[in-house]
Amino acid sequence: ERQIFVTRHGESQDNLTGRIGGDASLSPKGRRFSKALARFVKERRVTFALDLARRRIQEEKESKDPLRDSDDEDQAADELEEHKTEKKVRATAEAISNSQFTIWTSMLKRSMETAQSFDPDEYDIKHIRFLNEINSGSREGMTYEEIKSQFPNEFQARQDNKLYYRYPGMGGESYIDVIHRLQSMIIELERMSQSCLIITHRVVLRILLSYLLEWSQTDTPHMLVPIHTVYELRPKPYGVELTTWCYDE
Ligand code: G3H
Repeated sequence: ERQIFVTRHGESQDNLTGRIGGDASLSPKGRRFSKALARFVKERRVTFALDLARRRIQEEKESKDPLRDSDDEDQAADELEEHKTEKKVRATAEAISNSQFTIWTSMLKRSMETAQSFDPDEYDIKHIRFLNEINSGSREGMTYEEIKSQFPNEFQARQDNKLYYRYPGMGGESYIDVIHRLQSMIIELERMSQSCLIITHRVVLRILLSYLLEWSQTDTPHMLVPIHTVYELRPKPYGVELTTWCYDE
């Protein structure tokens, strides 16, 4: 069992002015989110490790002695048994939470800076270009209002078919293009067995969540995925358990 955390970068300077694309740094609030994220992930890892350790040890006990009834024992023996179990739980939980934990960010500043509050000795941090935000081609650095007033037909075309609409200009991408460039990341994510945190951007986050949670591709470009929200996923044999956490300062 493992935890997969997915989030967008902290608030950037461009988020404050509503500019798309670009390579801005975090705002002061974005930097505070980065610190809170590091504390939060650590806390959730410990809770997860304790839960898992308790379950594993309980299952182990049941498989060894399925018919044992604690009423049969005297109280002192029960207490000793409980104490031993709790010690074993803590040791197992410590081993689980010390196991490798990977952090992937994109190669854009706002995403890499969001990972800066994580201790590099404790985490395996990788910056991956495939996780970069959709390339808005010649519309990089513009606000939606500017696109709407200067290029109304283009703006409308994107509204009408956001999934297939490709931004004009060098490197411009559509959602479908981003889905294709994420294929190898998704294969890697499914292959690895350790827990991880992915710090990325709105479009990439929508695509990853849709894939992991098997949501419809048509709805993907319209999903509400605000910044400072962390999606914690736990893959289970029957599907994926999702918990959504909001940072509120
Ligand atoms: O910078 C790009 C935006 O985050 C993309 O969001 O696909 O909803 O326009 P959108």
